[in-house]
Amino acid sequence: MTKKTNILAIDQGTTSTRAIVFDRKAKTLSLARREFPQHYPAPGWVEHDVEDIWRDALTTAREAIAEAGGVETIAGLGITSQRETVVLWERETGKPVHRAIVWQDRRTAQFCADLRRDGAESLVRERTGLLLDPYFSASKVAWLLDTVPGLRARAEAGEIAMGTIDCFLLWRLTGGEVHATDITNASRTCLFNIHTQTWDPELLALFGVPDAILPSICDNSGALGMTAAEHFGVALPIGGMAGDQHAALVGQACFRPGMAKATYGTGCFMLLNTGEKPVESHHRLLTTIGYRIGGKTTYALEGSIFVAGAAIKWLRDGLHLITHASQTDDMATRVEDSHGVYMVPGFVGLGAPHWDPDARGLICGLTLGSTQAHIARAALESVAYQTFDLAHAMREDGAMQARTLRIDGGMSANDWFSQFLANILDTDVQRPADLETTALGAAFLAGLATGVWSSLEEIATIWQQERVFRPAIDSALRAELLEGWNDAVRRTLTPGT
Ligand code: G3P
Repeated sequence: MTKKTNILAIDQGTTSTRAIVFDRKAKTLSLARREFPQHYPAPGWVEHDVEDIWRDALTTAREAIAEAGGVETIAGLGITSQRETVVLWERETGKPVHRAIVWQDRRTAQFCADLRRDGAESLVRERTGLLLDPYFSASKVAWLLDTVPGLRARAEAGEIAMGTIDCFLLWRLTGGEVHATDITNASRTCLFNIHTQTWDPELLALFGVPDAILPSICDNSGALGMTAAEHFGVALPIGGMAGDQHAALVGQACFRPGMAKATYGTGCFMLLNTGEKPVESHHRLLTTIGYRIGGKTTYALEGSIFVAGAAIKWLRDGLHLITHASQTDDMATRVEDSHGVYMVPGFVGLGAPHWDPDARGLICGLTLGSTQAHIARAALESVAYQTFDLAHAMREDGAMQARTLRIDGGMSANDWFSQFLANILDTDVQRPADLETTALGAAFLAGLATGVWSSLEEIATIWQQERVFRPAIDSALRAELLEGWNDAVRRTLTPGT
């Protein structure tokens, strides 16, 4: 009989769903991927059809399992997903009552502004480590309950379940047996108290969310449920679950306080391990749960940028400037500098450290000498500058002792970008051998629960560096470039932000 030492990870992201099978040396044996439709019903609104998500999760998982040698090699599976995106469904039928409202969606900006004006932000900040911003799930749930006819009464009667995408996938994979979310995803809802580690009654009251819809909360690694046999032919143990950024923290083996990672997906999320105690930010960063394993919690400080890879996707799909993201590497190298062109990709407002939901994108500094290459380069540079703003805020908070930053996700494959990032941060930037770090983190969490790996220490020895990028510009040039960036950001922000 084949020994079960492979792990399946399902990584459900904002624009695509991947399933990857890893072996016990963390080598990728198979990968299946699907992009799925985005719905933009009104300016600033973003929705996902969770049936698309479910179909792709199941199909890619089945494909990856088959390619890796069959289900008899699989010890267990881990789930990781985009965070904050929220869906409500009928407990009886499992059917969603509305499309999921995506983390990027700004429809509740006014609702959040009203709560802020009423003085609710300090409560939110103190209990959740977050801010009052439409980014988080709570205001989206309130919108659904108030907008879908009859929904609030049904929710109060216990007919409706709420979940972020991890929770919805766990429910479907277990055939409706388990309604649970993991602690990292819970920590992004704005309803969860990160100190007591329970749903917070005062926040539930503030957003008008009935507790009858809430999932239970689990560790990131453990016996989370069994898949219904119909999905893969046998019941597989689900051993790991985490929000994608938290899974990437694990996948990057950032297990010691002071270690930091930045993941370049649709957005960019930089997380700094702060150890057993939550660190309060005075520079508008988020305090969040890094991971909880065996009941032991590790906290993190997070900087969230809403648009990173999405800016490159816009160059491709919106401007038709490129046909493939990898072309930007070559375009950026072709020109000596951005020729004074700056892009501030505030397509869905700006996240940390500005938190301006009404800001919109800007390209400035254009002259008759500006070319496509300058615009492509400005798009890449904007992501590095935004990362600088996060690192700067972390330093100002006294929390950033990290001497290096570990990077992963699509844009980190771009050598030019990785070097520019090191130049701007004035920090070594480490790139791992496997850039699918989010999926790898989910696999590590599941493998810990199913005996494939024994400890975080063992996992840390598996992590491998592919390359390190060292700063290679002088401080005068860095200061000049940052001055231009700060000026462009000032023009983008809504007055009074
Ligand atoms: O908070 C949103 C984040 O989890 C989305 O991640 O990888 O889809 O940009 P990603």
